[in-house]
Amino acid sequence: MGAEPDSPATIDSSMAGALAQLREAFLPRFQAAPTEQALRDENAKILGKKGELTAILKGLGQVPPAERKAIGEKVNALKNEVEQGFERCLRDLRAKLRQAELSAPAFDLTLPGRMPATLGHKHPISLVREEVVAVFRQLGFAVFDGPEVEHEENNFTLLGFPPDHPATDMQDSFWTESGHLLRTHTSNIQIRAMKSLKPPMAFLAPGAVYRRDDDATHSPMFHQIEAFLVDRNVTLAHLKGVLAEFAERMYGPGTPVRLRPSYFPFVEPGAEVDIGCVFCKQSDGTRKGCSLCKHTGFIEVLGCGMIHPVVLRNCGIDPDEFSGFALGMGLERIAMLRYGIPNIKLMFDNDPRFVAQF
Ligand code: DAH
Repeated sequence: MGAEPDSPATIDSSMAGALAQLREAFLPRFQAAPTEQALRDENAKILGKKGELTAILKGLGQVPPAERKAIGEKVNALKNEVEQGFERCLRDLRAKLRQAELSAPAFDLTLPGRMPATLGHKHPISLVREEVVAVFRQLGFAVFDGPEVEHEENNFTLLGFPPDHPATDMQDSFWTESGHLLRTHTSNIQIRAMKSLKPPMAFLAPGAVYRRDDDATHSPMFHQIEAFLVDRNVTLAHLKGVLAEFAERMYGPGTPVRLRPSYFPFVEPGAEVDIGCVFCKQSDGTRKGCSLCKHTGFIEVLGCGMIHPVVLRNCGIDPDEFSGFALGMGLERIAMLRYGIPNIKLMFDNDPRFVAQF
């Protein structure tokens, strides 16, 4: 037996009952919500598409037209009340949470993190700089620092560059408006050290240098390390000894070293230094030659020489009493050789995938 359809009067009164019930209940329900999400969920249960008040609203069609208006107004009034109640509770809840946050014990920044942080990596240039500095420190050299914006004198003139030397041209150096320049090499540190200190001295100077160069194998900013030693009776043999030691410690025991005569204005004699190619080195220590060493088995790593007597004199050191050697190397080149990096640009791209390999 089917149920009797509700009479309009019952619909009317049951609707009014439901409305009254909801009016009683909605605020305590909102107030009981512990979080903003719980509050929003509760609101949706009443005002949402399938919400309780929405259901009542849908039932309005069955109310006799005479009563519809009055009930409809009640429903709408309750809807407004619920909406306002929700907004009020939301504000109160946020204020309460904020207050709880403020009165909670202070956040302890010194606590260890819960998530393991991924550590960064040192750049290969930093790694080789540290390595080269460590090798020279063990040999008794100390670090001497100096500025990257330099007087022309310290960068060129006192090092014996003739006034019309091409390196002093606008193309090769970055000049400031005040007539200074970004140092083009770390050899300026020789001058600074020798002008300010009396021999004996043994220093190394790592740092950034700048030239107007930018192509596949050159970058306008790169890094060098200069090393120099001044004392009585210093000879080319001392220089060679230091170079052999350096090559062994950086590139492994038995790494061959050779000096080729070359010209730099601040040394006499001057030389370029090659070491056995690291790219085609065989397990028995021989080199079979490769495209990177142009099939010679040797690769150039630095410039060096005996400090020119004129340079010593320019810095107030008597060349009859003292002599010294100096050498300068490009760190990018050393890093490329040390790690087998084929392209200098990789070191300036700032790609974390590159740095992460070291
Ligand atoms: N300053 C030179 C350059 O930048 C490198 C160099 C060569 C440094 C010979 C020296 C040296 O101390 O003796 O190319």
